[in-house]
Amino acid sequence: MNKKIFAGLSVSLILIAYSCTKDKAPEEPTPLPPGACADTVSFSGVIEPLFQQKCFSCHDQNGGTSPLLKDHATISSNASSIYAALKGEGVTRMPNGGPYLADSTIEMFNCWVVQGKLNN
Ligand code: HEC
Repeated sequence: MNKKIFAGLSVSLILIAYSCTKDKAPEEPTPLPPGACADTVSFSGVIEPLFQQKCFSCHDQNGGTSPLLKDHATISSNASSIYAALKGEGVTRMPNGGPYLADSTIEMFNCWVVQGKLNN
């Protein structure tokens, strides 16, 4: 085979292979770096106070903004939509109007979910 054609073909094959792997990037679940969730996240010590400060003003009562978020049961059953809302992925980003949570705080919530949404 002509060397130039061969070189051109190889480059296009590499480009095609690269664009395919790019398309396959996983969306969910969020990959976490090793050791990211080394510490068990406490619901009563971390998650509940965070929601009290940042979310309960709008979401903690019947008749407030849906979803109702007021305790372990309501926060754990809405965990995936909460995570999407914290990141603003496909839905209005929360807390509504900002200021938004730091990435590290959002990842901490994700760790609590990954660890089984403990009521600890
Ligand atoms: C200032 C009031 C306010 C605060 C504070 C607030 N929210 Fe919201 N939230 C809203 C409103 C209003 C909507 C409806 C937004 C819409 O439909 O565009 C909403 C919607 C949501 C939704 C549903 C998103 C969907 O469409 O699936 C979730 C989940 C949510 N909020 C979680 C949270 C969390 C978690 C916090 C705290 C970090 C928070 N919110 C803080 C007002 C608030």
